[in-house]
Parts: sequence; structure tokens; C-alpha cells
Amino acid sequence: MHTITNPSGMRKWATEQRQDGHTIGLVPTMGALHAGHLALIAAAKAASDLVVVSIFVNPLQFDGQSDLDKYPRQVERDIGVCTAAAVDVVYAPAAASMYPPAFQTRVLPGPLAEVMEGTTRSGHFEGVTTVVTKLFNAVQPDRAFFGEKDYQQLTIIRQLTADLDLGIEIVGHPTVREPDGLARSSRNVRLSTPQRKAAICLPRALDAAVALANQQLSSVPNMIEAAKQIIAAEPEARLDYISVFDAATLQPVVGLANDQRQAGRVRIGCAVLFGEVRLIDNRDPFSS
Ligand code: PAJ
Repeated sequence: MHTITNPSGMRKWATEQRQDGHTIGLVPTMGALHAGHLALIAAAKAASDLVVVSIFVNPLQFDGQSDLDKYPRQVERDIGVCTAAAVDVVYAPAAASMYPPAFQTRVLPGPLAEVMEGTTRSGHFEGVTTVVTKLFNAVQPDRAFFGEKDYQQLTIIRQLTADLDLGIEIVGHPTVREPDGLARSSRNVRLSTPQRKAAICLPRALDAAVALANQQLSSVPNMIEAAKQIIAAEPEARLDYISVFDAATLQPVVGLANDQRQAGRVRIGCAVLFGEVRLIDNRDPFSS
């Protein structure tokens, strides 16, 4: 396995591989790799000749210096994990090679970035679309793999790829969970023991809403209320937002018509704070 640390080296390798007729799958990450990332890597390996995992803690997408500083960094361990997973290249660019002092261009997402995460985390998705465009240009993948855990991000990346004619297939992967149901996240390691126990209220709140959604007479306000009550009952948890939203536009829905009561049409998502640690999760209420 190679490690490549700058965009021009990455581009050179990718160009050579493409000239030789190999397909490339890319899994973009910020490192601190866990089972969720590994599931994306396995999906990429199954669908591509060669797999690149990028590891870059992208300063442009963080809300503040403190969140950026506290993000777990363990590149040596991650390289070991990628070697064991038979990844072909780890692309771990130095921040100075991604954002030299004269850097000034941004890729601006549209209304998909203005709801949910976009309301509380100003500029976050602009940072994501900018770095993902740079990663796509350096790695030149045929396919790129993203998790449904970050459903809004996945939707914005699909839109970016279509709007800018990038010609890359975006593959979404279901959320990988801990045995107790908590979505795997690099941020979980920052939870104290009581916060980790409390964090189970997130998937439980979504379970309660999903159970109601599957009763024909339940309304969207009922679903949201049931989820809110479970989070409110947990003293360590503070709800940021909860939304039942259209799976394509991400706009909140107020009611569920019959044709929306099927897989792929709506989702329920929320963000909850445990101390300073902010966790997100979402579900499709009608997928089996
Ligand atoms: P990161 O949080 O490291 O996540 C990298 C990829 O792994 C994302 O596509 C994310 O949705 C996916 N992922 C994380 N946890 C998952 C889980 N439990 N199950 C399935 N997939 C999961 O998302 C980012 O990094 C960054 O914003 C990035 C796209 C790399 C741009 O900087």
C-alpha cells in the first residue's frame, strides 16, 4: 500500500492507473477509522479495481478552532487499518498542500445546505463541497462512497456531482451501528461514560418515531413529539433539531401522504448534544 501526501502526487498515480484501464473507488474520510468507514471500504473494494482512502481533517468544514483541535487524529493507526483492509492508496495530504496561503476559491452548495446541519453549522457544507471537489480532482475516481449516517452530506454530494458534471458515481451506504444501536462515529470516543450511556437515546428516539410512522393514523407532529420526549427524558442530552423531511429536497414535511409511506421518500433525522459533543443520526421510517 502507498501513502501519498500531496495533490500532484495523487493525480499522477490516478492518471497512470486510469491509463492502464483500472477503475478507482474513493472513500473520503477524516480518519479515526471505525467500522462505518470499513464498511465503505469493503463496498469500494467490491466495486472497483483499486481503492483510495483519503484521510484529511478538513479545517474548512469545522465550526470553530476548538472543534477542529479536538477532532481525533491517529494517522499511523489508520494507515495500519487501511493496510489490513487491502486498500491500495491512503491519500493523506498535508493541510499546507491542500490550502496554501493564496488559496481562496470555494464551491458553494445550494438550498440543500440551508436546512438541518446547515442551520446550526454555518459554512460547514461549503467546506465539505470544496474539499470533496478537490479530492475528486486529485483522485479522479469512477465511484465515491459516502455513508447515509451523514444523509444531508450524501445528498449534497450527489447534487454537486450532477450540477458540476463530475461524471463520478456516488454510492450511498447504510449506517453502521454499535451493538446497542448508536451510529458509529469518530466523535463517540469523546463521550464520557455517562454520556455514552445516554447517547442511546438518539437511536431510541428515532425508533419510537419510526414505530409511529408505521401506524397508518400517526401524524408527523406525533412522530416528532415521541422522539422529543425520549431525548428530553435524558438529562445528559440536549436536542439541537429533529426533522421529518423529504428524502430528495431535505425540506421538512408536515404530513405523510400515502405515496410517501414507502421506502426512499422521507427520512427522520436529528442532532443531539452531549456536553460539547454533537451527534447526528437519521432513519428511513419505511425501509424494511
Ligand atoms: P467522516 O466523518 O470521517 O466520514 C467519512 C465517511 O464515512 C462519510 O461518508 C460518512 O457518512 C461515513 N460514515 C461515518 N460514520 C458512518 C457509519 N456509522 N456508517 C456508515 N458510514 C459512516 O464525512 C466526512 O468524514 C467528511 O465530511 C468528508 C466527506 C471526508 C469531507 O471532509
